[in-house]
Amino acid sequence: MSGVILETKHLTKEFKGFTAVNDVNLKVQRGHIHALIGPNGAGKTTCFNLLTKFLVPTSGQILFNGKDITAAKPAQIARMGVIRSFQISAVFPHLTVLQNVRIGLQRQLGTSFNFWQSERSLSKLNDRAMQLLAEVDLTEFADTITVDMPYGRKRALEIATTLAMEPELMLLDEPTQGMGHEDVHRVTELIKKVSAGRTILMVEHNMKVVSGICDKISVLQRGAMLAEGTYAEVSSNPQVMEAYMGTEAAVLEGAH
Ligand SMILES: Nc1ncnc2c1ncn2[C@@H]1O[C@H](COP(=O)(O)OP(=O)(O)O)[C@@H](O)[C@H]1O
Ligand SMILES: [Mg+2]
Repeated sequence: MSGVILETKHLTKEFKGFTAVNDVNLKVQRGHIHALIGPNGAGKTTCFNLLTKFLVPTSGQILFNGKDITAAKPAQIARMGVIRSFQISAVFPHLTVLQNVRIGLQRQLGTSFNFWQSERSLSKLNDRAMQLLAEVDLTEFADTITVDMPYGRKRALEIATTLAMEPELMLLDEPTQGMGHEDVHRVTELIKKVSAGRTILMVEHNMKVVSGICDKISVLQRGAMLAEGTYAEVSSNPQVMEAYMGTEAAVLEGAH
């Protein structure tokens, strides 16, 4: 299937008279890695919270695969395949990496914790969990207590637990935030890899990441859509350059 997987129409969110998201019309193409960027306070997180149903829009519509999901609950859209990474990144720090992925898988099966499951179904879960760990390059960490892993690896685990939910559309809120150079590179490659056969919408500050892997970029400013296009298009847009004037202008340029 091609075409638009996610669409918002006139999406608006007001907080006590303050408009955090203002008449946003967003179209995410199936198969794309699509970035939502914008200066601090632009409304990116609010937008994400609307898409994942953590917030109810003041007005406007959200369509997933053409279906109106404006009134859907978070669990409903998760079952439809819209998965936000941090939802499940509520990983259990004192369980092993493998156990965390297994819990993600059990959640997906709707069985939740089930200590008296048969050996056979447990080993099937283990196999699938190991497969997912291999996909995010965490095989060697399977038996590591999660809290003991380096930060970048934890973010990779987060991606594995997201994959466990079989996402059709993955929503990543700043997946490389707070990472050093090497981790940024590794997670960027990972996102690129797991994007195969899926669609990814991500909020990302790092313009190197955005320019490196994103097919399309939407720029928000003060709640409204300022510009859209490829990295080359938006980074040469005078309005975007102005919006990023000051601290972040250098970042935007530095990514070329
Ligand atoms: N729950 C809330 N109540 C009031 N104002 C909010 C709330 N959430 C966000 N805002 C405001 O909405 C604007 C957009 O915030 P946010 O979506 O977090 O921006 P971004 O993620 O782009 O930095 C900010 O001015 C913020 O202060
Ligand atoms: Mg934010």
